[in-house]
Amino acid sequence: MTQPLDTRPVLVVDFGAQYAQLIARRVREANVYSEVVPHTTPASEMLAKDPAAIILSGGPSSVYAEDAPGLEEAVVTSGVPVLGICYGFQAMSQVLGGQVARTGQREYGETRASVTPLASTLFADQPEEQVVWMSHGDAVHAAPAGTTVTARTPGAPVAAFEDDERRLYGVQWHPEVLHTTHGQQVLANFLRRGAGIDPTWTSGNVVEQLVEEIRAQVGEDRVLCGLSGGVDSSVAAALVQRAVGDQLTCVFVDHGLLREGEAEQVEQDFVDATGVDLVVVDARERFLSALAGVSDPEEKRKIIGREFIRVFEQAARDVVRAHEGEGQDGDRHHDHPVKWLVQGTLYPDVVESGGGSGAANIKSHHNVGGLPEDLQFKLIEPLRMLFKDEVRQVGLELGVPEGIVWRQPFPGPGLGIRIVGEVTAERLAVLRRADAIAREELTRAGLDREIWQCPVVLLADVRSVGVQGDGRTYGHPVVLRPVSSEDAMTADWTRVPYEILARISSRITNEVEDVNRVVLDVTSKPPGTIEWE
Ligand code: XMP
Repeated sequence: MTQPLDTRPVLVVDFGAQYAQLIARRVREANVYSEVVPHTTPASEMLAKDPAAIILSGGPSSVYAEDAPGLEEAVVTSGVPVLGICYGFQAMSQVLGGQVARTGQREYGETRASVTPLASTLFADQPEEQVVWMSHGDAVHAAPAGTTVTARTPGAPVAAFEDDERRLYGVQWHPEVLHTTHGQQVLANFLRRGAGIDPTWTSGNVVEQLVEEIRAQVGEDRVLCGLSGGVDSSVAAALVQRAVGDQLTCVFVDHGLLREGEAEQVEQDFVDATGVDLVVVDARERFLSALAGVSDPEEKRKIIGREFIRVFEQAARDVVRAHEGEGQDGDRHHDHPVKWLVQGTLYPDVVESGGGSGAANIKSHHNVGGLPEDLQFKLIEPLRMLFKDEVRQVGLELGVPEGIVWRQPFPGPGLGIRIVGEVTAERLAVLRRADAIAREELTRAGLDREIWQCPVVLLADVRSVGVQGDGRTYGHPVVLRPVSSEDAMTADWTRVPYEILARISSRITNEVEDVNRVVLDVTSKPPGTIEWE
């Protein structure tokens, strides 16, 4: 019997570092629920959330700077267990009466720390010498009264302190980054041994909790969901389906710009696995005609976005009308109106748009922003507290097919922006085949998780001379664009082993008619973007 979910959050106070979300993710990985709050949140507001613990993140400031973000004393004296990290560690030291000073010896990057596992809650069961990731100019010189120093580094005489009585802990380095070899263990020790929190944030419990929330929110109303074939909309739909069954109708617009097998994965595999009621709109012809003769990339995006909204709106109207009260035989049909629209917003979007409980930014076109007057839905965002990796776990828990759960990012306008030049049915067929071969070989080589995504691009406006068999060819090049990334904001080209590139190249040039060259894109982002258009 698993323990029920403890929904009291571990609050991660964001002092302006890029690390706060990462800390929150690591806490979740330790099976504990966490929320990010800005450092400007008043202590009273933080405490009103009844936090199970508070973690103070790192930040770019020096505690001496005039505009240094402050820390209210109430946060560390309220009795709630606290862990300070980097800047948070120093701010906490100061508030508790310790001393922070310029060391003159900055530490950046990998550093060796000596810890005292025997006398420690944070370092229990760990080696005395650890590699840690540092980034600081100031250091704590005198630990606050009542605390025990449990770690040192060459540049930080007090690199960690602990006080089990008041349940106050701190480390100078970053336990959340992977370079810190025992970082996750330090966080887990704080949560379990220091703060006494049970690890109840499991995908089973999360599904149960979200299902209850959706039921309470939706009642007997009907819900509409646009399925794109991507991870987020699929998992959101599967959750709502689990919660309210056939009160949910999903709409899938097949714009004909998906990759090989993807439409089938939605129409068959997803429906078989989840039992959702799915309306498929075959709009392939419509998109092709709208795109005929258009080569400009921005124009293509606009057309695809516009057509998508129109088709989705029409489908939504049809679904709404079907439940508007008149049964087919003219009898009054006691149905409920379609009031809700599912949106696959994730937690990073919520944090980045200021946290809080308001609706997060409505994203790109296929998430369907400004709908017309007669189609006003309330948004339901069942994934708004989840990180991407949690969405995948929830998807697996719900039985969403693995091919969808592990899908790499794919742009809304699809292959439409991976053909440089006009989009035609023939060119789509060529690209679809080349892309399928590349994906197949990368998967076979076990590289799917290492590669963030690998666009395959058809340079439809370029031809070059080649030779095949006895004859001269005059075909198109295909570009492979494998990239490694954390968030698509920056990326590096992935060093795919030569043998695998060779296999992809030889298969594509042999099997795909009209393609006589395969080239590799070795540009990072910046300066290049991931997609070619
Ligand atoms: P770029 O090319 O800007 O891509 O480096 C960054 C990430 O965004 C995806 N992408 C899009 N996604 N609609 C989308 O939904 C679009 O128009 C679009 N353009 C790029 C791209 O695949 C990458 O993951």
